[in-house]
Amino acid sequence: MKQLVTNATLLTFAGPAEPRAGAAARNVGLIRRGAVLMDEGKIVSVGPADMVAKHPDALKGRVHDAGGRVVLPGFVDAHTHPVFGAPRLKDFELRAQGRTYQEIAAEGGGIVSSVHGVRGTTEKELTSLLVDRAARFLECGTTTIEAKSGYGLDKDSELKSLRALKHLAAGGMLEVVPTFLGPHAVPPEYLGRASDYVRFLVKEVLPVVAAEGLAKYADVFCEQGYFDAYESEAFLKAAAAAGLGVRVHAEQLSRSGGAQLAAKLKACTADHLDKADDLDLAALKDAGTVACLVPGSNHFLGLAEMPPARRILDAGVPVALATDFNPGTCPCWNMQEILAIAVSRMKMSPEEVLVAATVNGAWAVGLGKTRGTLEVGRAADVVVYDCTDYRELSYWFGKNLAVTVFKAGKVVHSTLELRT
Ligand code: NIG
Ligand code: FE
Repeated sequence: MKQLVTNATLLTFAGPAEPRAGAAARNVGLIRRGAVLMDEGKIVSVGPADMVAKHPDALKGRVHDAGGRVVLPGFVDAHTHPVFGAPRLKDFELRAQGRTYQEIAAEGGGIVSSVHGVRGTTEKELTSLLVDRAARFLECGTTTIEAKSGYGLDKDSELKSLRALKHLAAGGMLEVVPTFLGPHAVPPEYLGRASDYVRFLVKEVLPVVAAEGLAKYADVFCEQGYFDAYESEAFLKAAAAAGLGVRVHAEQLSRSGGAQLAAKLKACTADHLDKADDLDLAALKDAGTVACLVPGSNHFLGLAEMPPARRILDAGVPVALATDFNPGTCPCWNMQEILAIAVSRMKMSPEEVLVAATVNGAWAVGLGKTRGTLEVGRAADVVVYDCTDYRELSYWFGKNLAVTVFKAGKVVHSTLELRT
């Protein structure tokens, strides 16, 4: 069905088909009285409302009057861990009592404590949890997520996690880019034997993941106490040889060598980067790797330190923003909340955070040519927000402003009738 959204404060992010850095990372492509026409899942006309109105199909379908509201492409959340069972409320309470993430993990909390939940849950139950969670992402304006396995940590449970993501994707609502994160933590059976666990993943699990097309990317938690740079490299090289793209949890809690590894392997993203130094940033820039920043996890962990967004932007590295949705460090699916944190705590501008959450998010999941901007031929992933100035998106923190969400040209969430 054809759908026209008109009378919009439109952010198109139109521009070169590449991740945006420098001045381009501040260009939102604002059209004050704009419109976007969608048909068969794609954008067929976009620009000033007067111009779009002249398209022969402009009035052939449903017309939504945005009433001057802000309209932009669906957010692309390039870093999430949504395949888990229960929330980790015990860890949460312990942190409020002053314990650190690392202390809690060393005493039996942390990632490994979420493993029991996934191992004891069926593929069907995991899928149903994911379907519920997907609705939460969509209603906040996120139309695509990158989604990692990583709370199974054995062959059956990692495959089960990725298959549950495949079922979610088949539902056709929220778009899912799956990532195999087998080396998220060393499971109890391999305690003290991280290299053996990596060898097991490469020999026993990766071939099935690749053969069944269960993941587009591979990722590793390259971090002190988890996987060192050598173990990480061994896993990622095997994944790349099996045809998967590469991403790295790098320099989050300690200097891990993850950023240099990401650059060496020309990874799609290096994520977190809290402890990245200037040499790391220069290497990432040369490699064309996107810095995927997840300040929601610093916020939730109560850390004073934030990822060095300004230094990363000044180094000319393209920045994507993501939630890091997970039960341990960021139980938040709302990208608007992350944008607010990024402006207030990392001193990114309201324009930079929007570029980072749309066009750069799309490049950070390998979909830069079809998602993340409002341009003719792109996917009709379009969101209307209940505000008239785009700066409000990172200002009213705690409030979901998304009122109508189109995924591939279909309304998948709506709380406001936008009839003419
Ligand atoms: O990105 N760093 C590793 N993964 C998550 C934490 C996951 C957890 O604690 O369950 C992160 O912060
Ligand atoms: Fe993560």
